[in-house]
Amino acid sequence: MEKFIVEQSPPLKGRVKIGGSKNAVLPIMAASLLTEGGCTIKDVPPLKDVYTMKDILTDLGAVVIWNEKEGSVHIQAQSIAKKEASYELVSKIRASFLIMGPMLARWGEAKVPLPGGCLIGARPVDLHLKGFSALGAEIEIAHGMVTAKSKGLKGNKIYLDFPSVGATENIMMAAVLAEGQTVIENAATEPEIVDLSNFLNNLGAQIRGAGTDTVKITGVDKLKSTEYTVIPDRIEAGTFMTCVAACGGDIELENILAEHLKPMIAKLKEAAIEITEMQNGIRIIADPTRPIKGIDIKTMPYPGFPTDMQAQFMAMLTGCQGSAVITETVFENRFMHVPELLRMGADIKIESRTAFVEGVKNLTGANVKATDLRAGAALVTAALKAQGVTEISNIYHIDRGYCGFDEKLRSLGAKITRLVMEDIKEEQNE
Ligand code: EPZ
Repeated sequence: MEKFIVEQSPPLKGRVKIGGSKNAVLPIMAASLLTEGGCTIKDVPPLKDVYTMKDILTDLGAVVIWNEKEGSVHIQAQSIAKKEASYELVSKIRASFLIMGPMLARWGEAKVPLPGGCLIGARPVDLHLKGFSALGAEIEIAHGMVTAKSKGLKGNKIYLDFPSVGATENIMMAAVLAEGQTVIENAATEPEIVDLSNFLNNLGAQIRGAGTDTVKITGVDKLKSTEYTVIPDRIEAGTFMTCVAACGGDIELENILAEHLKPMIAKLKEAAIEITEMQNGIRIIADPTRPIKGIDIKTMPYPGFPTDMQAQFMAMLTGCQGSAVITETVFENRFMHVPELLRMGADIKIESRTAFVEGVKNLTGANVKATDLRAGAALVTAALKAQGVTEISNIYHIDRGYCGFDEKLRSLGAKITRLVMEDIKEEQNE
């Protein structure tokens, strides 16, 4: 078992290079199943979830070669050995459900365990399955497995009741080899959708409109090979921005696309944090002697404020001047970080999907638990400014979405160490 030991830290100073996007690379790795040609994906972050996706593709029979030094993965799915994904592997990451669309499109059959819910919500896949059915697949759900079969997918018009990121991605992938045109209406518009569409078009797919709420896919017979570099991780970048805003400092982030950070930049400027956009980076300056202004946050699908940044902003706002109102509209239960922040002395009240934060002068260090990757990052953000020492357990959640989070923070002067405790079994509170 591992823990982070975090002490109240001086203002952060220095530069950090942001890694490739977890939420872009996972669908792109799954999409590599769509072609018998080899795909080389670059700037792949060495994250636990990415290793799991590699294992899932290998287990299916694809050849997956990871060049750690270069940070690239080569995937070749000439054929696959089986059409049923391993429960043991798939149950580790929800994003594994994204192999369904490519397998259905390429081989006309896919059997994938129904992803369970997780702590942030029920996380149903009804919209994914609605899309596959609309394309002509037969869907069966039994014994916790989803089986989809088709003798040849046909394009269709699909309206998403909610602009689901995963459903947009899965249906887009299923449609690239379907006969005729597919139109996804009320599609998600996140940058990771655009990155997947660019990757697929590089393979020879014909996708138009990704990044808008209407995506048109014209089916093609087969796809080629490609080499592709994924976009930087906008949530990793946003997390470092909240760390500086919380404990003060002056840092530069390299390898970012400011366009993707607009919601976080806008809200931090509202909180009187100084942000300067540069050639290929961004500089954030926060005065540690001046508490940030209380601001209101409402999470929305892109280009609204991202739900994946809600916990980190709340941690930052626990010390605000005045108060902050934070409304979570995307997931039904994404406030698990609140009880942990309360243990550190925060003043937060929850009413349904809204958290009312009253700024407090100081947080104090405590023993706390990460409950999901963004909640874990939020606890680190709070611990950097809390008086005394904070012990954060279950940090495997954090390692799923952030590579070298503690190393990168230490390089900025943060007082954070990773404690490896061999004898204590990791608590599975999933
Ligand atoms: C993706 O999850 C991200 N994960 C999540 O990031 C992110 O929080 C989420 O999009 C929203 O931006 C990856 O990309 C791997 P959704 P996804 O489908 O695709 C409901 C992180 O921290 N819904 O857009 O699962 C669902 O219940 C993770 O990196 C249905 O009702 O999100 C939820 O309330 C956490 N039916 C809402 O839509 C469906 O069929 C958003 O879910 C699908 C979704």
